[in-house]
Amino acid sequence: MACPLINLPFFFLFMFLPFSTLAQTSKNISLGSSLTALNEDNSSSWTSPSGDFAFGFQRIGKYGFLLAIWFDKIKDKTIVWSANGDNLVPEGSKVELSNGGKFMLNDATGKRIWSAQFVGPGVAYASMLDTGNFVLADRSSSNVWESFDEPTDTILPTQILNQNDKLFARYTATNYSRGRFMFILQSDGNLLLYTTRFPLPTNNFAYFATMTMYAGFQFIFNQSGYLYLTAKNGSILNMVSSNTVSMQNFYHKVTLEHDGVLRHSVHPKTAASSAGSPMAWSPLTSEPSNICLRIEGAIGSGACGYNSLCSYNDKGPTCQCPYGYTFIDPNDILKGCKQNFVSQSCDAALPETESFDFHEMQSTEWAGGGYEQFTSVSEEWCRQNCLDDCFCVVAIFKDRECEKKRIPLSNGRMDPSIGGKALIKVRKDNSLKY
Ligand SMILES: *[C@@H]1O[C@H](CO)[C@@H](O)[C@H](O)[C@H]1NC(C)=O
Ligand SMILES: *[C@@H]1O[C@H](CO)[C@@H](O)[C@H](O)[C@H]1NC(C)=O
Ligand SMILES: *[C@@H]1O[C@H](CO)[C@@H](O)[C@H](O)[C@H]1NC(C)=O
Ligand SMILES: *[C@@H]1O[C@H](CO)[C@@H](O)[C@H](O)[C@H]1NC(C)=O
Ligand SMILES: *[C@@H]1O[C@H](CO)[C@@H](O)[C@H](O)[C@H]1NC(C)=O
Repeated sequence: MACPLINLPFFFLFMFLPFSTLAQTSKNISLGSSLTALNEDNSSSWTSPSGDFAFGFQRIGKYGFLLAIWFDKIKDKTIVWSANGDNLVPEGSKVELSNGGKFMLNDATGKRIWSAQFVGPGVAYASMLDTGNFVLADRSSSNVWESFDEPTDTILPTQILNQNDKLFARYTATNYSRGRFMFILQSDGNLLLYTTRFPLPTNNFAYFATMTMYAGFQFIFNQSGYLYLTAKNGSILNMVSSNTVSMQNFYHKVTLEHDGVLRHSVHPKTAASSAGSPMAWSPLTSEPSNICLRIEGAIGSGACGYNSLCSYNDKGPTCQCPYGYTFIDPNDILKGCKQNFVSQSCDAALPETESFDFHEMQSTEWAGGGYEQFTSVSEEWCRQNCLDDCFCVVAIFKDRECEKKRIPLSNGRMDPSIGGKALIKVRKDNSLKY
């Protein structure tokens, strides 16, 4: 009679074995496997052996699903790679490693949204590695495709950028569509941050450059959390970020963020390992050090949108509208600001000079792009000249120099180093707004 009782634990062990093997996701993902995007199911992912990373679908607000790789053990589930940021998919969409060795994302109707591009013999299995790299491997276990070779906005320790590899910032913090900034190791060896000619992915204005032409070969984020550019012979040409925190206790990532700043950030792995730092990402290194002052191209709006003002603190750039202006789209502030008042009439019979006044802002400017400039004049003269000119929306006055600006205003910024003042022309009686 005692025997069945003694065997009970073993009975339970066997009963649960199939379930624990299912949950143990450190295995190869075999041909014929798939994941489906479901609203009511959190299990639509493949995790790495350690559980640090997962590959699968993440729901993005009410807009649909993103096929992505993320840090799976932290609350934020921070995304480090994605396949379809420009094209979210609805519930019921499926990513599949087909029996024929293809890896593809189809939407709920079966339409191809994305597929891994590779040449050579077929894939034998897929694997989510503990480094955050998702790989497709052939029968001899060599990788035919790696997410590390097609980075989106982030690189992880052990990841390398080769010549012509790029990162694109996402559009906003929550929109994974390709945004307005680019990081590239050019084929000429130079490593740069550029604004793009959005919506095209072409480069516009460089706001960071290592100037390593004919030398830069690889951009390496090494296993110890150091970020540097090397020459072909392996020597370090430029140390972009040195690591000061433990790899054991912190997750590391380098992301070209939506605000255009390239940040090396760390996140405690557990509360116990945090050494008092918050359970969130905090930057170790930010490049450039002040993006507001760095971007001043002849083409483009600057670090913020048109008619905006950029100011920088340790959290990064902040965009705001000048007095008399408001954001065109508060959910997308890089779209810029619009005037809250009706512009000054250019009708000679109705000059409206009396209807306008100036709002003064110290150490503020819109760099470049002035259409008239006067030297050795007084501030009073500058104000009157701008008032009498219906095209003038701002006059920058500094060291007896007066520079007039027209709409749209570019490269706006506030910083104590700028000096002088901006005279922002606004309608006195805003009731005329219609
Ligand atoms: C994955 O599959 C390859 C090739 O069949 C095999 O060599 C390797 O041991 C497998 N790895 C695991 C973790 O099962
Ligand atoms: C899915 O995850 C959320 C947040 O972690 C949790 O609140 C919810 O209960 C989970 N749903 C299921 C079906 O497991
Ligand atoms: C993200 O931004 C792009 C560019 O403006 C836009 O076309 C797209 O609809 C946005 N996606 C979401 C999910 O809001
Ligand atoms: C490695 O290459 C760099 C850049 O081309 C060069 O300056 C350096 O002298 C080389 N170092 C060695 C040890 O060859
Ligand atoms: C990473 O780079 C740093 C700086 O060059 C070096 O001290 C460290 O040994 C490197 N780590 C590995 C694992 O190569």
